[in-house]
Amino acid sequence: MPVNSALRPYPFAPFTGDLPADLLDMVVADPVSRVRLPDGRPAWLVLSYEHCCTVLADPRFSRLPPGATSAPGAAGPRELNMDGPAHAAVRRVAGRAFTARRISTFRPRVRRIVDGLVDAMLAGPRPADVVAGLVAPLPVFVVCDVLGVPAADRPRFYAWISGLNSVTAYGSDGAARAQAELRAYLAGQLTRKRAEPGDDLLSAWVHGQDAHELVDAELVELAMGVLLGGLEINSTSAGLRALFQHPEQLAKLRAAPEKLASATDEILRYTSVSAMFRVQVVREDLVLGGVAMRAGDCVMAVPWAGNRDPRQFPEPHVFDIDRTPTVPHLTFGFGPHFCLGTALGRMQVELSLGALLARMPGLAPAVPIDEIPWRHDRMNGGIEWFPVTW
Ligand code: HEM
Repeated sequence: MPVNSALRPYPFAPFTGDLPADLLDMVVADPVSRVRLPDGRPAWLVLSYEHCCTVLADPRFSRLPPGATSAPGAAGPRELNMDGPAHAAVRRVAGRAFTARRISTFRPRVRRIVDGLVDAMLAGPRPADVVAGLVAPLPVFVVCDVLGVPAADRPRFYAWISGLNSVTAYGSDGAARAQAELRAYLAGQLTRKRAEPGDDLLSAWVHGQDAHELVDAELVELAMGVLLGGLEINSTSAGLRALFQHPEQLAKLRAAPEKLASATDEILRYTSVSAMFRVQVVREDLVLGGVAMRAGDCVMAVPWAGNRDPRQFPEPHVFDIDRTPTVPHLTFGFGPHFCLGTALGRMQVELSLGALLARMPGLAPAVPIDEIPWRHDRMNGGIEWFPVTW
C-alpha cells in the first residue's frame, strides 16, 4: 500500500460553509499535521495563526513548484505569483497604483454600481438570487472599471474572463485560447492608454513606466493577477449567511448601520469561503511548530483556521460585530503577498451589505440556510446561489 493512502485526506469533508469541528480543535491541539491533498500529494497542514503567518511570510516557503526559479527572465515575464525580488519588483509597481487615496476615489463609483444592481433586484421577481443579482457581477464590474476596460469592450472581456477562476475549465483548449486573447487585448490596451491615459490602473502603470523597469509583457501579467484576485468576492454572500444565522447580530447592525465597517471585518474573520488555500513548497529543511519539514515538501496554511485561533481571538467561534481584535485576521493573507485589493474588497462587502439592509428592510433567506449550495468548481469556493426575499 502506498504510504500516501494512509494519510488523512484533506479537506476532511466537502466544504459547505463551516470548517468542521475536528479541524477547529486542531488549531490548538495539532497545529501542524500531515494530510493528503485532493490531487494525491502528501502535505503539511498548518492551522495556527502564528504558523500560518510564518508559512505565508517566511522566504523559506516558496510559491514556485520544486526546481522552478523566479530569477527574472528565466521563466518569462515576472509576475505576482513569484518569490523574492522578482515578485517585489512587480508588487512595487502594482502597489504604487493601489494607493489608499486612489482606492478611496473609487468609493462613489462602487456605490453607483451596487445601487444599480440592487435597483434591478428590487424591480425583478421575489425571491431573487443575491449571488446572480449582486455578489457575482459586482466585482467583475468593479475590476473592469478599476483597470480601465472601455464599456464597449466589456461583453468581449466578460467572455474571456468567465473561465479564469474555473477549476473545471483549467487547462482546456478553450480556456487557453481565452487567456491568450485576453493577454493580447490587455497588451493593446497598454498601447492605447499610453496615448490616451484615463483614471485607471493600466494608465497609471504605463504612465510611470520610465520610473520603473517593468516591460509591457510584465504589466499584462500584473493586470492578469489583479483580474484573478479581484474577480470574485464571496465574503458578501458568506457574510449575509452569517448574519442570518445570528439574528441578534443582524438586529444590532440594522439598529446601528455605523457598525458596518467593524461588522465587515468580523465577517471577513469569521466566515470561510473554502477549506483549501494555496499550496506552497518548503525550500530548505526546517522545523515548524516542533515538526521537521524537508526541502520540497508541500505545505498548506489555512488562513480561515488561523482566524479561529483562541490565542489571538478570544472566544474565536463567536460571531460578534463589535469585536475589536488586536491583530489583523488572515483573510487577506499575510506577508509579501498580502492582498493588494484589501481596501477595494472590503469596500465592496461593506457597500453591498449596507445597500441590501437599507433598501430591503425585510431581507430574509428564501430557503433554509443549510440548503444553500456551495460551489466546488472554482479556485475560490463560495455560495453558488442564495435566494432572498424582502
Ligand atoms: C474580500 C475580498 C478579497 C479577499 C478576501 C482577498 C484575499 C486575498 C488573499 C488571501 C491574497 C493572498 C494570497 C496569497 O498569499 O497568495 C490576495 C492577494 C491578492 N489580491 Fe485579493 N482579496 C480580495 C479582493 C481583491 C480585489 C478586489 C483585488 C483587486 C482588484 C485583489 C487583488 C489581489 C492581488 C493582485 C493579489 C496578489 C498580491 C501578491 O501576490 O503580491 N483582491 N487576496
